[in-house]
Amino acid sequence: MRGILLAGGNGTRMFPTSKAVSKQLLPVYDKPAIYYPLSTLMMAGIREVLVISTEKDIPLIQSLLGDGRQWGMELQYVVQRRPEGIAQAYLLGAEFVKGHKSCLILGDNLFYSDSFEQYLSRAKTFSGGATVFAYRVSNPESFGVVEIDESERAVRIEEKPQQYISPWAVTGLYFYDATVGDKAKRLKPSKRGELEITDLNRMYLSEGTLNVIRLGRGVAWLDMGTPENLLASSQFVQTIEQRQGLKIACVEEIAFLNGFIDVGQLHQLIHSYPQCSYRQYLERMVQNPEIHMIRKPGSAVA
Ligand code: DAU
Repeated sequence: MRGILLAGGNGTRMFPTSKAVSKQLLPVYDKPAIYYPLSTLMMAGIREVLVISTEKDIPLIQSLLGDGRQWGMELQYVVQRRPEGIAQAYLLGAEFVKGHKSCLILGDNLFYSDSFEQYLSRAKTFSGGATVFAYRVSNPESFGVVEIDESERAVRIEEKPQQYISPWAVTGLYFYDATVGDKAKRLKPSKRGELEITDLNRMYLSEGTLNVIRLGRGVAWLDMGTPENLLASSQFVQTIEQRQGLKIACVEEIAFLNGFIDVGQLHQLIHSYPQCSYRQYLERMVQNPEIHMIRKPGSAVA
């Protein structure tokens, strides 16, 4: 399975903070925002990822993440010249995903739950079609929204509906089969001129292959794309990390626990980092791996 991380957009809602710096590179407590969606892909066991962003931001993101080899991954980059819709990711990434199942995540989405890997595993093992995650929110009109029937089947999906449909927002994490590229080619721009991810999902719905997984109330789904939400996300991460002494979205830790890198490679990485609390955290992990190994290293999501 291959991953796409869509990290473009104009960053209008973050202006002027996002004028010179990509919003994906802004700090969410102790690490850049893009580490959070990247770590979700890694937790799904995905090692090959296409990062899509603007012409201006790609070099900056690339200077942070590199080619991914340091984390046992393979990162490629492609420019989205204008933000013409989330589903455009599948036109820009057509060659990259050809013949593969894929997972798309939006660069401003943060997921946190101690059972999140089970959700990812369910989505990964679903055969055929698409899987989206539904999350109960108090303001569904701000999202893609799905109506779900008693047998947990999606019956309707709308983008930012003006009339109430349900409280179930569709999150920015999508799993697709290998037909997604052909479907994306058939999309037409919406009234606001975008290739809508909701229209792509509706194609699966009309084929009867849109699978919806409800995320429970123990899951945190946050977006980091406005000043308020960026601050809330930072505070959330700080609260959990300080309480537990464990980091959220520490990519080196996930790479190690998933078996993407071995202990020798982890040591090399640590030695290349400056003396800082992030490095100390990784040093502690190497010394006391049992604290971090809720599961055995190498046992990535099926
Ligand atoms: O976060 C979940 C929601 O994301 C879904 O519920 C909606 O169905 C979906 O349309 C999307 O809604 P947003 O209003 O949050 O979309 P936004 O335009 O803000 O884009 C989300 C992220 O994707 C943002 O970080 C910028 C990036 N993006 C967006 C577009 C349209 C791109 O990189 N390129 C694009 O062309």
